[in-house]
Amino acid sequence: MHRIDNILADIYRISAFDPQIGITFNQFLIVDERPALIHTGTFPMYEGVRKAVAELIDPKKLEFVAVPHFEADECGGMGRFVKDAPQSTLLCSEAGAMINFSAWDFAGPFRGMRDGTTIELGKHRLRFIETPHVHHWDSMMVYEETTGSLFPADLFIQPGEQPAIQREDLGAAMCQLYRGAGIFGGDKPVLQCVDRIEKLAPKWCHPMHGGSMTADTLAHYIRALRTQSFAYEGMLFGRMLPT
Ligand SMILES: [Fe+2]
Ligand SMILES: [Fe+2]
Repeated sequence: MHRIDNILADIYRISAFDPQIGITFNQFLIVDERPALIHTGTFPMYEGVRKAVAELIDPKKLEFVAVPHFEADECGGMGRFVKDAPQSTLLCSEAGAMINFSAWDFAGPFRGMRDGTTIELGKHRLRFIETPHVHHWDSMMVYEETTGSLFPADLFIQPGEQPAIQREDLGAAMCQLYRGAGIFGGDKPVLQCVDRIEKLAPKWCHPMHGGSMTADTLAHYIRALRTQSFAYEGMLFGRMLPT
């Protein structure tokens, strides 16, 4: 069951908590002349996410489906969302397009986005930021310029069932989750990305797992990444691998 929260302006969060995994899975819809969905949820989540989108817009009117990296929760619904909306285009990073769409079971139109490329939605404008190895080779983030909203995918994750707007500092829990799951191969690409985010100074940050936050709350999470270890140390989903 997905809940819908209007986080700000035309940005809606479509969210479901998975008690087994212990995190929320959020997709974001930007309602505009050319509506955009930021990540799709997993393949089994498709019907639920589509139903929630349909409460806000006609899903057939979606024009962009942005996939920040190729992993089931970010892209599992991409084939059906794009197929169902005749005008829609899938947006991924240029690397994502090179790596995956040369040999992937996806027949729809797609565009590989290079750092700094922009797309007009109407009132809103998306800018794309290439963030390789945060946490996948092909990772990118999406920045909406009008509201100063960053969509960082899995960066700034918060474990547990969190409110739509996060005001708490869960930086230590975030780093613990990252170490336990082993999702970042190293800290360098992440810290380079954090430096870029700080320069960008987003007003809002909308993580895929957890609650959205304003700049003052985001500062706690940035500090945690700078001061605590979070990169892979041999642990994969709580299982220590032989060294
Ligand atoms: Fe991911
Ligand atoms: Fe994710």
